Amino acid sequence: MARVLVTGAQGCIGSWVVKQLLEHGHEVVIYDLDMHPVRIAKITAPALVSKLKIVGGQIEDTAAVKAVVKDEEITHIVHLAAVLMPFCQAQPVMGGLIDVIGTLNVFEAARDAGRSVRIVYASSSAVWGPEHAYDAKKLGEDDPLKPATHYGVFKQANEGNARAFHAVNGISSIGLRPWAVYGFGRDLGLTADPTLAMRAVVYGEPFQIRLSGFMDMQYVEDVAATFVGSLFAPSDGAQVFNLAGHVTSMEGLIEMIDRVRPGAARLLTNHGPQVPVAYQMDDSQLMTHVPGLPKTSLEIGIRKTIEMFEKERGKV
Ligand SMILES: NC(=O)c1ccc[n+]([C@@H]2O[C@H](COP(=O)([O-])OP(=O)(O)OC[C@H]3O[C@@H](n4cnc5c(N)ncnc54)[C@H](O)[C@@H]3O)[C@@H](O)[C@H]2O)c1
Repeated sequence: MARVLVTGAQGCIGSWVVKQLLEHGHEVVIYDLDMHPVRIAKITAPALVSKLKIVGGQIEDTAAVKAVVKDEEITHIVHLAAVLMPFCQAQPVMGGLIDVIGTLNVFEAARDAGRSVRIVYASSSAVWGPEHAYDAKKLGEDDPLKPATHYGVFKQANEGNARAFHAVNGISSIGLRPWAVYGFGRDLGLTADPTLAMRAVVYGEPFQIRLSGFMDMQYVEDVAATFVGSLFAPSDGAQVFNLAGHVTSMEGLIEMIDRVRPGAARLLTNHGPQVPVAYQMDDSQLMTHVPGLPKTSLEIGIRKTIEMFEKERGKV
C-alpha cells in the first residue's frame, strides 16, 4: 500500500480524494492550513477518518513541506493546496506564493526525500485563454496556452516547473486540468455557484448564479477518481492532461436542476460574465492513459449532489 500525502486535503476535491484513498486501503497523511477534517468527515466512514494523520501548515513553508514528505515516509503525493482564481486576481503576490512557490516546494520535497516519490498535481483548465482566442474545435494538450488570469499563468508555470523537475531530477508527475468541479463540498471559487445553486434549492432559497455563458461541469467524485487513478497509472515523464465533463450553458444548467427537482427553476437565475476560459476540451489522451475513469452524467451528478444536501439538511 502507498503512503500518500494529500495537500489541500480539506478542500472540495481533496476531501473526496482522501475518502477514495482511504477506501482503497492506502495510508493517508494530509497537509493543509485547516486542521479540522469537516468535509472529509461528512462523506467518509468514521472508522476510516480516524486513520488519518493530519499535519497543519502552509504550503509556501518550504521547510515544513520537506519535513512532512521526508519524516512521514511519503511515497506518493496528490498536490491540491492552492488559492483559486478570484483570490489570485485580487492578491497576485500572495496567490503566486501559495500556488507557484507552494508547488515548487512539493517538487523539491520529492526531490530531497531520499526515495522515489510520485506526484499528481492540480493544474487547471485556466491555462487556456478565453474561448474566442481559439478556433472552434476541441483543445488538445498540444494547443497553445493563452491564460488570461494570474491563476491560469501560475498553473502554466507549475506545468513548466514539473517538466524541469523531470528533466533535471527525473521526478515523474501528472498534472490534471479540471474545469468547473461541482458536487457536495464545493463552496469556494468562481465556479462554485452551480453547486451553491443546488444547495439553495434544497434550502428553498432564491439564488443567482453570478455567471453566464458556458461551463464544462465535472462531477467531484469523477475528478477525485481521476486524481487517484492517475497516481497509480504508469508514468515516466512530466505529463499533463485535460479533463472534460459536460458542457452546458447556465440556462441549460438551471433547466437540468429543475428536471431533477421540479420547481427549482423558480428559485434560480443567472447574470454575470462568461468565465474567461475556453471550454471545449479533448480528454482522449487522459482516457487512454488511465482507462476506466468514470464520467457521471450531468443529471445524475446533480441528483447525487442534491441528495447529499438533502441528507445534510435532514430532509431524507
Ligand atoms: N474546483 C475546481 O473547479 C477546480 C478547477 C480546476 C483546478 N482546480 C484546482 O484543484 C485544486 C483543489 O481545488 P478545490 O476546489 O478543492 O479547492 P478548495 O479551495 O476547496 O481547497 C483548497 C484547499 O487548500 C488549502 N489551502 C489553501 N491555501 C493553503 C496554504 N497556503 N497552505 C496550505 N493549504 C492551503 C485550503 O485550506 C483548502 O483545504 C486547486 O489546486 C485548484 O486550483 C480546482
